[in-house]
Amino acid sequence: MTAPTDRHAQTAVPIHPLLASRASTRAFTPGVDLTDGQVTALLEAARWAPSAGNTQPWRFLLARRDTGEFKRVLETLNPGNRDWAGQASALLVAVRTESNAKGPLSHAMYDLGQSMAHLTFQAAAEGLTVRQMGGFNAAALAAEFELAEPLVPTVVVAIGVPGDPADLGESVAGPDRVVRARLPIEDLLIHP
Ligand SMILES: Cc1cc2nc3c(=O)[nH]c(=O)nc-3n(C[C@H](O)[C@H](O)[C@H](O)COP(=O)(O)O)c2cc1C
Repeated sequence: MTAPTDRHAQTAVPIHPLLASRASTRAFTPGVDLTDGQVTALLEAARWAPSAGNTQPWRFLLARRDTGEFKRVLETLNPGNRDWAGQASALLVAVRTESNAKGPLSHAMYDLGQSMAHLTFQAAAEGLTVRQMGGFNAAALAAEFELAEPLVPTVVVAIGVPGDPADLGESVAGPDRVVRARLPIEDLLIHP
């Protein structure tokens, strides 16, 4: 048996443990229902994210496991995502609204991303894991749930209790078995 990969972030200086220990896992413990308290905490965290002009251009479609909605969301995922995301406790569709009564919301995508970052860290605090997915058919999902403009499904987020990567199928197990990596800070700095 091989030892599980250490997926804790290797940081230059200590950062908050929630930030360092969070990882996007594909392995979920099957058969686990989120509590109502957990769901509310996740949505509260997302709701309290900052946004341009406090426009809050985020909307959420939450599909809990073992429901018709869950199966309908799952069907819109790319096959490579469908193979593991079906074990999650919930699939949350993060939807941006591209305009409001005052006009276009140019930072809607950015703001939605921030709300998902907040949700991700609240999930970590709840002992849950999250993996966001761009790999889904947005047009099919919008049609399936009658999401019309200005609503745009942007990511599907698998949420649940971390599972054992050894239980994943070989074709999808790769990311959970590698050390997490980032570009060094020096490569990110733009020197004028
Ligand atoms: C917008 C977005 C889209 C993503 N799409 C997918 C996806 O379709 N399938 C998948 O397995 N992971 C997806 N991921 C997860 C990333 O691959 C993962 O966050 C990245 O490799 C860094 O890993 P870490 O979050 O564990 O640090 C996505 C993440 C984001 C933020």
